[in-house]
Amino acid sequence: MKKQIVGVLGAGSMGAGIAQIAAVETHQVLLVDLNADALENAKTSLTKVLSRLEEKGRISSADEVINRITFSQKITDFSHCDIVIEAIIENIEVKQKVFTSLEGIVSANCILASNTSSLSIAAIASACSMPERVIGIHFFNPAPLMPLVEIIPAVQTSEETKNTARELIDGWKKVTVLTKDTPGFIVNRVARPFYGEALRIYEEGLADFATIDWAMTELGGFKMGPFTLMDYIGNDVNYTVTETVFAAFYYDPRYKPSFTQKRHSEAGWFGRKSGRGYYNYAEGVEQPAP
Ligand code: NAI
Repeated sequence: MKKQIVGVLGAGSMGAGIAQIAAVETHQVLLVDLNADALENAKTSLTKVLSRLEEKGRISSADEVINRITFSQKITDFSHCDIVIEAIIENIEVKQKVFTSLEGIVSANCILASNTSSLSIAAIASACSMPERVIGIHFFNPAPLMPLVEIIPAVQTSEETKNTARELIDGWKKVTVLTKDTPGFIVNRVARPFYGEALRIYEEGLADFATIDWAMTELGGFKMGPFTLMDYIGNDVNYTVTETVFAAFYYDPRYKPSFTQKRHSEAGWFGRKSGRGYYNYAEGVEQPAP
């Protein structure tokens, strides 16, 4: 079978990681973002990561891999893609608009996938004239390192789309799990109380960020504490996901968002990507932000 041409829309943390996986797996990749700086940053960080992988002998040539990726600001460059994976902001109206535009560019056989963490795939698909080709393919951060990928068919998704998408991602040595199109799917739903309770413990003045993280990692056996993990994911992205899941479950208080996270997000304290979140990263020293 001919190697699929893979399009990735959005060159942020997730899009760059997905482009890396596909290029390592020898696909031609088109990585598109409206923002020139985002593309430049993605190129710089991918070059660095791939050189490190070459040094460690995990890939034979970083140049070969990076040369398979075309960086572009033009969505029309997706015209020859067999699949486009969208990883832009977590906003249903924006995603719907983008999917409608994508349909006018790609061929009838092209699969359109969303990496959304929480939005309804059925609602995204409803913006398309061929909703049967739309599916959720949800990677975890950092995408090249995390083995799990949730495959989320909407009610409109065809068997063919589901099977082709799953086969492709299985071929990328990921562990795929088929999930229902429900808010947060599996992992992000289970994770909401993990973040939410940690934020409530902090807001009730019971412990600070570092103490809660320490308890969860040193005593609880978690790889990362909730605040370290939220800083890794991005407080903007994580807060939006909580808001979406809360509303989608008819305002069930179990998923209630936190003002602390909202204020961090509004202040631009997104976490690692902005240099400050619950911890300070700017000085190169990880420490609780005052
Ligand atoms: P990010 O903020 O790092 O990157 C988003 C990128 O999309 C930015 O470079 C932005 O310029 C670009 N963009 C925004 N609107 C666009 C448009 N209309 N056309 C083209 N490019 C556009 O976000 P991140 O963290 O990469 O998340 C992206 C998606 O992946 C979201 O839906 C998020 O929920 C999901 N996700 C995020 C995870 C995380 O841990 N950060 C994990 C799994 C999924």
